[in-house]
Amino acid sequence: MAKPYSELGKRSRKISSIASLCSAKLFILLAVFAILFVVLLHIQIIASTFDFTHQWRKALFTGNCTNGDQELEYSSVASKLQESVTFLPLKDLRYSSKPLQGHTWFMSSMQDTHEEGQVKYQEYPSKASKGRVLCIKGNDTHDGSWNSYALAWPHALPRNATLMKGITFVSYNHYNYDNIWHGLSAVVPFVAWRLRNNNNCSSSSPARWVLYHWGELRTTMGPWLSSLMAAAFGEPLNIEKFDGRVSSPAAAVCFERAVVMRHNEGGMSRERRLEVYDFLRCKARIFCHVSMERRRRDDEIGMTMLMRNGARSFKNQTAVAGIFREACRKVEGCRLTVAYAGELDFCGQVKLMKSTDVLVSPHGAQLTNMFLMDRNSTVMEFFPKGWLKLAGVGQYVYHWIASWSGMNHGGAWRDDTGGDGDGDVVCPFDENDRRCMSVYKNARIGYDERYFSEWAEKVARGVKLRKAEEQMLEKKTTTSSSCGC
Ligand SMILES: *[C@@H]1O[C@H](CO)[C@@H](O)[C@H](O)[C@H]1NC(C)=O
Ligand SMILES: *[C@@H]1O[C@H](CO)[C@@H](O)[C@H](O)[C@H]1NC(C)=O
Ligand SMILES: *[C@@H]1O[C@H](CO)[C@@H](O)[C@H](O)[C@H]1NC(C)=O
Ligand SMILES: *[C@@H]1O[C@H](CO)[C@@H](O)[C@H](O)[C@H]1NC(C)=O
Ligand SMILES: *[C@@H]1O[C@H](CO)[C@@H](O)[C@H](O)[C@H]1NC(C)=O
Ligand SMILES: *[C@@H]1O[C@H](CO)[C@@H](O)[C@H](O)[C@H]1NC(C)=O
Repeated sequence: MAKPYSELGKRSRKISSIASLCSAKLFILLAVFAILFVVLLHIQIIASTFDFTHQWRKALFTGNCTNGDQELEYSSVASKLQESVTFLPLKDLRYSSKPLQGHTWFMSSMQDTHEEGQVKYQEYPSKASKGRVLCIKGNDTHDGSWNSYALAWPHALPRNATLMKGITFVSYNHYNYDNIWHGLSAVVPFVAWRLRNNNNCSSSSPARWVLYHWGELRTTMGPWLSSLMAAAFGEPLNIEKFDGRVSSPAAAVCFERAVVMRHNEGGMSRERRLEVYDFLRCKARIFCHVSMERRRRDDEIGMTMLMRNGARSFKNQTAVAGIFREACRKVEGCRLTVAYAGELDFCGQVKLMKSTDVLVSPHGAQLTNMFLMDRNSTVMEFFPKGWLKLAGVGQYVYHWIASWSGMNHGGAWRDDTGGDGDGDVVCPFDENDRRCMSVYKNARIGYDERYFSEWAEKVARGVKLRKAEEQMLEKKTTTSSSCGC
């Protein structure tokens, strides 16, 4: 029975050896499959990861998502940003009691950028605006609280907004753009801003000006001021009217780059102001083809009476001119010119100021021309009765501009006889009563023959001395035709 057992055993050994042979083969086969599978799986994973990275990168760098949901989300965020642009009134009536203080009532939610000694300004887009541009809506010329402003990101401008290219100067003026003093005060900071950025002059000329007075749109500037600005920026002014540029009154305009000024010269140091007035004088003379060289005869003294007609004029211009002519005659080289500001165009005034060393004129906007004289020239000013006590600090503006532009204010004569006869209205109240200012404001000016005569002669002699000293020191006036920019 051992045989069958052994037979069985033999067979079973044979079977088992066959089986073990088979299982080894199977194992290798399975292992190969497994490795193959793992490798394929890896290739698959790597491939899909690469694909994902690629898509993700593409979306990140192009701002595009091939995935429909992401695209939807992106455009929905953009549209939410677009809807969140909030317009506020240009003129904030909450500050109507102090329209010029601090942030002012114009664009009251905005802060100015101010570096020591420099002009105060706002620029959009900027770091301060977090890259947002300035948008303005409405073109109301009667009520500034109907006009409004907002900041918006360039990729999410308000619906239907027009983007205006280039630099836009947005000016706030509390008075007006026709009076040359008030107009000049409003535009000086733009010139200062330009000089501050003078590393590239050609890139700081405005494509357009947007003018506001109390938030109301203004579309004109007086001819004197627009000529001066054309001279300063080297091209004719483009004053924005917003007519036909906006599709509907509800639509906004946004500015690729905007500079906003609302504090006049406020914040500027004396050095910065001198720089601006030197620049303007230089540009105005080039614009009007007035020679930059000194006059041939350095011992000549130009005394110019710049007369007004009507308000604050001399009651007897012939008499006053006679006194000054006589006084001038006493000083060798002195030459008197009598001119009427109203009869001269911008270049006429620039030419006249170039040959003037002493400007003689009643208090009034025509005195603004003084910065067009050579540096260190002299001004003589005249006031009607009552101004000293009643007119407030505003009466000193021509003392200020004399200091800012490097001129000597040679003093002021104040009439104490005015308001008596000669067509003038007499103030019915006590002469220190505030109500008298309306009577004295535009009163005409009398004269004091002896005082005028001595004063004029003294000033002329002073100028003669100064010019002689300057000549000895061989001071050179600006001869550069670039004016520094
Ligand atoms: C975004 O991707 C879609 C689909 O690929 C394409 O049609 C569209 O032009 C792309 N848009 C941009 C801004 O690249
Ligand atoms: C944008 O313009 C269209 C067509 O002129 C007008 O129908 C739509 O009301 C305007 N939307 C806004 C917010 O002004
Ligand atoms: C100055 O700016 C203008 C206009 O942006 C540009 O064309 C010009 O190349 C700039 N010049 C220099 C020297 O940077
Ligand atoms: C304001 O814009 C509207 C729309 O373009 C125009 O019809 C209107 O005349 C403008 N008003 C002024 C004062 O310019
Ligand atoms: C002006 O003054 C001159 C000279 O003093 C005098 O002759 C003339 O009568 C005066 N004119 C008037 C209108 O007072
Ligand atoms: C003006 O006067 C001041 C003080 O006397 C002098 O320092 C300066 O050089 C003068 N400027 C010119 C342009 O003559």
